[in-house]
Amino acid sequence: MAYRDFQDFLNRLEKETELKRITYPLDPYLEITEVADRVMKSDGPALLIEKPKGYDIPLAINTMGSKRRMSLALGVEDYEVIAEELESLLKPELPEMGSGFLGKLRSIPAALPQLSKLMGVAKSAPPLTVKEGICHEVVKTGDQIDLFEFPILHCWPLDGGRYITLPLVFTHDPNTGKRNVGMYRIQVLEKNKTAMHWQAHKVGAEHFRAAQEKQQPIQVAVVLGGDPALTFSAIAPLPPAIDEVLFSGFLRKKPVELTPAKTVDIKVPADAEIVIEGYINPGETCMEGPFGDHTGYYSLADDYPVFHVTAVTHRSKPVYPATIVGIPPMEDGWMGKAVERIFMPFVKLTIPEIIDMNLPVDGVFHNICFVRIKKRYPGHAYKVMHALWGLGQLMFSKFIVVFDEEVDVQNLSEVIWRIGANVDPGRDVCIVKGPLDVLDHTSPYIGFGGKMGLDATRKLPGEGFTREWPDVIRMSPEVKEKIDAIWDELGL
Ligand SMILES: Cc1cc2nc3c(=O)[nH]c(=O)nc-3n(C[C@H](O)[C@H](O)[C@H](O)COP(=O)(O)O)c2cc1C
Repeated sequence: MAYRDFQDFLNRLEKETELKRITYPLDPYLEITEVADRVMKSDGPALLIEKPKGYDIPLAINTMGSKRRMSLALGVEDYEVIAEELESLLKPELPEMGSGFLGKLRSIPAALPQLSKLMGVAKSAPPLTVKEGICHEVVKTGDQIDLFEFPILHCWPLDGGRYITLPLVFTHDPNTGKRNVGMYRIQVLEKNKTAMHWQAHKVGAEHFRAAQEKQQPIQVAVVLGGDPALTFSAIAPLPPAIDEVLFSGFLRKKPVELTPAKTVDIKVPADAEIVIEGYINPGETCMEGPFGDHTGYYSLADDYPVFHVTAVTHRSKPVYPATIVGIPPMEDGWMGKAVERIFMPFVKLTIPEIIDMNLPVDGVFHNICFVRIKKRYPGHAYKVMHALWGLGQLMFSKFIVVFDEEVDVQNLSEVIWRIGANVDPGRDVCIVKGPLDVLDHTSPYIGFGGKMGLDATRKLPGEGFTREWPDVIRMSPEVKEKIDAIWDELGL
């Protein structure tokens, strides 16, 4: 089910008793974080802070901070159904003509780029262009622009300033015109100037590099609110060929309505709460950060581009959407889990021997990845590690542990038991170098360092293991059955 706009989503949350209104004038400077952090740590509801101290604009936070709310954000009862739908869409089709060379050849278009099929589905809900939208009920340009009119959070005590924490950043590739929507935090520097924290590996940064090569500024629109399916699409590690707005249309089963922005050549969601338009000059940077980050530590200050604001538009009574990040678990943990589950079919498309994967929330997603595979040949665990390190944003995985098919990687006590029991550290560890998350503070260079793979699978003779591999202890089924039958009698 598609939401008309962000406030429609908030109404749904309230109806489902998933949202609590707060009338106390909490201060966007630290106080909202302290309250939201306690609520997030205790599986609490979404919050609508009606009058943040000093502001008339309400602030919504933790709107996706549970599996239920994340599912509601995507318009479904349980987001696993989206994973199932994607899985069936991406299933290779069998050739219609015999299994000979000709038949195989004919099957290639269907069996290879399954993504094009997905694109086809997404294109069934392509964005519509409309002349106007609620996002333009109020338009401010020139001296009227003042980003401090919004209750932008100063999240943690040592943060470098106030940050927009749930922004959808729209850019176009200067060479191809292809759109990208990514979520990159925005530090407000002045009433009409911010930093743009797109990290080096992200698509927004690539668009900017392409603009710099042409010595051109890049136009940017920062969108807050709209259907939460678009917010999810902005954080999703979509293959570059898939447009986030199209994908959002696929998720909500209804086209996203876009309208031309006022001062930049970018179409923005007509139903947005707030849009910030502007440009970034080639070569102009500022100190961005520090910022209390997903890692649970402050990410250190560094050079990032400067975003000049040319217009701020909003609906007449906007709600300001926000989140906070910090020591896990936090709201972003729920967003990340949804990404993990919904994108499993894409991972399996490239690495079909993967049965399941768990990026535990406490491992801050990129740090730890547990994988369950159907092991078929010597070195198979290493093949899977390297494939993952080469697959989109999974390249950031700092530790990958590969398990056999009978291991439930969602069960962390089983995972720890199997690592301890099945790994010989002198043999089963693989250390490699490569790109890392820019937020990693341990790597010798920003975004580049070491990664470790652990092979926790049963070792094969072809891997030099010639000893006997013992069986796991299991009770015989007849005895289990008998004890099941008399269990109540035992009064235990
Ligand atoms: C709450 C939140 C904040 C984020 N902040 C940033 C950020 O500041 N910079 C960044 O590069 N990625 C950030 N990310 C991760 C990106 O949104 C994510 O990697 C996304 O897939 C990038 O999109 P892209 O592939 O189109 O660049 C954030 C994610 C979330 C959930």
